[in-house]
Amino acid sequence: MTLSFSTTADAPETIATPCLVVGLFEGGRLGAAAERVDSASGGALSRLRESGDATGKPGSSTLLFSLPGIAAERVLAVGLGEPAKFDTAAFHRAVNESAKALGKLPIDSAASFLTMLEVPGRDAAWKLRTAALAADQHAYRYTATFKPKAKDAPKKPELGAIAFAVPQADEACARSLDEARAMASGVRFARELGNLPPNICNPAWIAAQAKDIAAKHAGVDLDVLEREDMEKLGMGSLLGVASGSANPPKLVVLRWNGGGEARPYALVGKGITFDSGGLSIKPGAGMEEMKFDMCGAAGVLGAFLAAVELKLALNLVCVVPAVENMPDGNSYRPSDILTSLSGLTIEVLNTDAEGRLILCDALTYTAQTFDPEVIIDAATLTGACVVALGKHASGLMTRDEELAAELLAAGEATHDRAWRLPLWDEYQSQLESGFADVANIGGKYAGAITAGCFLARFTNGRRWAHLDIAGTAWDEGRKGLATGRPVRLLTQYLIDRST
Ligand code: BES
Ligand code: MN
Ligand code: ZN
Repeated sequence: MTLSFSTTADAPETIATPCLVVGLFEGGRLGAAAERVDSASGGALSRLRESGDATGKPGSSTLLFSLPGIAAERVLAVGLGEPAKFDTAAFHRAVNESAKALGKLPIDSAASFLTMLEVPGRDAAWKLRTAALAADQHAYRYTATFKPKAKDAPKKPELGAIAFAVPQADEACARSLDEARAMASGVRFARELGNLPPNICNPAWIAAQAKDIAAKHAGVDLDVLEREDMEKLGMGSLLGVASGSANPPKLVVLRWNGGGEARPYALVGKGITFDSGGLSIKPGAGMEEMKFDMCGAAGVLGAFLAAVELKLALNLVCVVPAVENMPDGNSYRPSDILTSLSGLTIEVLNTDAEGRLILCDALTYTAQTFDPEVIIDAATLTGACVVALGKHASGLMTRDEELAAELLAAGEATHDRAWRLPLWDEYQSQLESGFADVANIGGKYAGAITAGCFLARFTNGRRWAHLDIAGTAWDEGRKGLATGRPVRLLTQYLIDRST
């Protein structure tokens, strides 16, 4: 079930809703909406604070039931921290905290006044979109593969609608909610695809999802290249990775024509539907997480979907190499030499460095076929990126200063942040091979960067950026879910480019 968004310009105490959300600062002050609720209820929030039950500390929240003088059934008071420190990051924290708390309640709708808080440097439209996306992020439930439960099991109502307070519902607010809806549907698409098990989400499944997008949206064209097509073209690198799998590879190409004759923007996503490591097999512990190795593909498809739903005025191509990396009698081997579509030969020193091997052919194909304005790839490419940046920032690599600035800004605006790593020529020597033009691994140091340097050899002379999302695409652990990153970053980048 998707969450539906609306706006309200009513006074907080008058809104009949299962739950009203207001902010509570630390120290003397309440938020403006909390102030109104306080006086309408005869000082309920002041007493709550004086008693010490609520502190207003960031990350805290308190639920009040049936307040006199308040039309809402419940009031959720969310801690905002100190008023002087209330900034973009604190706003994110508050809307996420509120979304988390709302998800635990047996309610189907809510109204939030957090969007009325002043955030330095941010306008009403930004606050609205940010709050809506946080709400949707927490409302998402993965249900695709659970067994059906008994019919008469009592079911807790689930949050299906949320209204956000605005000073007045204008054009900018409406636009902002449209963007939130499109980004949320792109994020949900990416998360669902990422969370599916690899026996369902194989290359053919990804191709079928792309077909579905094309069927449901006018103006979208689809091509799926089969193994034979790739053989004819000479994609020896991608096909090398695919050779150990019983699931044939697919190269999925979606096109959106919203920009007349303009050169397209191109998104390329790593679609390894399961990464066992191949013959350089991974250890058993944690291997299950490698079902998420197609999250780059899911991310670019999600951003494509969002761009199409917004009918952005630009041309866009989305290229997804979908391949499974498995050990087998037909597998490619360490020491194999592959000839890529570009003509460069590659010495395979580790079959677990497979992402770059499918991406290099996809990047060459994208550049040759579409002559794009810009190419951006997204890939769960290296464990080294997780070591370098952890779970909060995606690794951004590009030699184009302007493109770097645009992507970093898009990440900041949507709290889907990236951090730049260098692609200096000095790193290239780590990829030297005695048997081919390039080796597929670069040794112990700077693994995220040498992976980027490998891809750079296939994008020479192009405006190109690489996002390593190995740390950001899913949460770790048994119940870890796909996050839908970097759908928001990419969608924002495209929104900013469209006229
Ligand atoms: N898909 C993995 C990268 C990865 C590992 C992402 C762990 C998220 C968590 C990629 O294909 C891979 O196996 N990379 C190797 C490269 C190495 C062999 C040079 C890695 O990072 O260990
Ligand atoms: Mn691998
Ligand atoms: Zn991989």
